[in-house]
Amino acid sequence: MGIKVNEKERFFSITTRNTEYQFKADKFGVLKHLWYGEKTDRDMEYLLDYPDVGFSGQIYETGDDRTDSIDTMPLEYPCGGIGDFRIPAIKVTHADGSTALDLRYKGYCVKNGKYNIPGLPAVYAEEAKAQTLEITLCDTSSDTEVILRYGVLEELDIITRSAEIRNNSNSPIFLKEAASLSLDIPFGDWEWIHFQGRHTKERVPERAPLIHGIQESSSSRGMSSHHQNPSFILCSPDCTEQTGKCYGAFFVYSGSFQIQIELDQLNQTRAVMGLNSKLFGWKLNSGESFHTPEAVMTYSAGGFSKLSHNFHKVIRENICRGKYQLAERPVLLNNWEATYFGFDAEKIIKIAEDAAALGVDMLVLDDGWFGKRDSDTSGLGDWFVNEKKLPGGLGSLVEKVKALGMKFGLWFEPEMVSEDSELYRAHPDWAIKIPNRKPTRGRYQLVLDMSRKDVRDYLYDSIAAILKSADISYIKWDANRSICDWYSGELSAENQCELPHRYMLGLYELLERLTAYFPDVMIEGCSGGGGRFDAGMLYYCPQIWCSDDTDAFERAKIQYGTSFIYPISAVGSHVSVVPNHQTGCITPFETRAVTTMAGSFGYELDLGALSDEEKNAVPEQIKRFKKYAPLIHNGKYYRLSDPTTGNIALWEYASEDMSEVLIHGMVFRTEPNMKRIAIKAVLSPDSQYKIEGDLGIYTGAALMNGGILLPKTWGDYCPIEIHLIKQGV
Ligand code: DGJ
Repeated sequence: MGIKVNEKERFFSITTRNTEYQFKADKFGVLKHLWYGEKTDRDMEYLLDYPDVGFSGQIYETGDDRTDSIDTMPLEYPCGGIGDFRIPAIKVTHADGSTALDLRYKGYCVKNGKYNIPGLPAVYAEEAKAQTLEITLCDTSSDTEVILRYGVLEELDIITRSAEIRNNSNSPIFLKEAASLSLDIPFGDWEWIHFQGRHTKERVPERAPLIHGIQESSSSRGMSSHHQNPSFILCSPDCTEQTGKCYGAFFVYSGSFQIQIELDQLNQTRAVMGLNSKLFGWKLNSGESFHTPEAVMTYSAGGFSKLSHNFHKVIRENICRGKYQLAERPVLLNNWEATYFGFDAEKIIKIAEDAAALGVDMLVLDDGWFGKRDSDTSGLGDWFVNEKKLPGGLGSLVEKVKALGMKFGLWFEPEMVSEDSELYRAHPDWAIKIPNRKPTRGRYQLVLDMSRKDVRDYLYDSIAAILKSADISYIKWDANRSICDWYSGELSAENQCELPHRYMLGLYELLERLTAYFPDVMIEGCSGGGGRFDAGMLYYCPQIWCSDDTDAFERAKIQYGTSFIYPISAVGSHVSVVPNHQTGCITPFETRAVTTMAGSFGYELDLGALSDEEKNAVPEQIKRFKKYAPLIHNGKYYRLSDPTTGNIALWEYASEDMSEVLIHGMVFRTEPNMKRIAIKAVLSPDSQYKIEGDLGIYTGAALMNGGILLPKTWGDYCPIEIHLIKQGV
């Protein structure tokens, strides 16, 4: 198995199928990081050859040796306050007000299986397919202990990280920072990729060389956010999709986070990922422990594709859970862009009838079915049916939809409350707001204090009552604002800093309760589109609405960025009308369909209002999606072009054995007398392939190196679909 220990040398090596990770406790017990990269078959300590660097501190025991500095050496979990002036992984304030922590090696333990983290989502695995390495460190002058946990999924090239901080002293300590991952890379030039954006334009990759000092991507919005995603890649400057070296990590957490990358005085790189220290603090009483959320790392010497494949597999198979984890998802019709708030039962039934006639599997009723919710100014929190709109309640509506042969899904926004609601009038103290201060509103609404048990019980009871009142197969779990004005009536002044993390623990507890009690109900995550698209939510919801932007051209770019970390099965995607409601742009119906197929396929429009030609296309699109869904969701995904820079968006789904390949995408603009474009696919070079609709037989090598000639394009956003089958299988 992957964990090797040399007890005498206090040397630890984690090997996975293609990678190796090494660290050791030196003679003073300082845990030094040695290596993360390709397998090397030897201890990499020889690289720790350091000069005497002025102004860099040494721990006391190094005596006259000025080359052994904690300010320059690669460290496994660097501490604040003791002379490593780079980014710390951990910072505490002791009872006497001092802030130093000097963690030294105390012991280790190897266990079969993958550790869990109490109250938090984390990678899980069968006992035989994972191992856990625990390293215990102890402060030299206080009884503060840190247990570093490494989960090893050898076959997947995945290493997970989490830390437990224990206060074994008699007085409380205050945690100011507690990272999940710290990774020192003492060699090489690296470029940093993070995924930035905004509402309706999420996860745009941004790649930049590192500059000396600290660069950061973070969220302080209480949600992982549209603006930065909790993930990063560090890559060699020559890294491409298929070649070059890259490290990647994502955070299994849905709240505020902080990723800092530092290029130090010796051109060494440190990456630290964890809770956002600007919004974090935790009082640890005597005998208590704090567990950090999980970070998941991989390394690829084969470019971004391999990195993405490792992440796609671990998220799909070891983070997503439940009945729908690997199952084919229903093709759904969501009424939001079809009606917004302007619907009644009659309108919804008509939409359902049209959808059923064209082969849709499920009708999803979006915002507006409950309380006094005729616009976004009121009603949130009142999770009971608005009988004016839906006379007879949900039961009768759901039965009618089911009689059409479809399942039924329903929208909720559980964490939020409108001031104009019965809930807020009864419990104004349940909203997060600071006494004697006007609260900040976002989309007219306030946020419920999810750290409170009474709030969670109310939400559980209300949602459970609705789920029991009718045959509901799916929930869309929305959250449409960022969180500020942090204050909870339940917490003392010194504990208020804990609220942002307590909020997430509360949300996860509620999701756990609901998914355990209603295992047959699929939850789709959402936050104003993709404002909480992270692995934490994917533990409870196997798919997340990727963006409120349904314009095929923009969506192709959003889904391109999303695909670096997250699997296609996690992407909620719908065909909508043109001109598009977010951009006013017009794209062909087929282009919208192929773009939507890169996810869980659905429609978000009034199918009855389509042209006859479009209506005829719908059953064929659904049939085609269902035919290709196993390949799309279980296959390997390859980005064949960068749609953020070129004139083309193309991506590929390939079966594990490369016997079947599907290429989808679009050419943005067609030029007059345009030469046909040859696109290089990823195939098995020694195999022969047949392209559907083409009489020729081609070697994989020809199509990989010379390329596949795209069909002649016509018009804007011309759709592309190429299906290849390996011959002689
Ligand atoms: C934001 C979501 O992303 C939309 O799809 C829709 O559900 C609205 N909220 C409803 O208010």
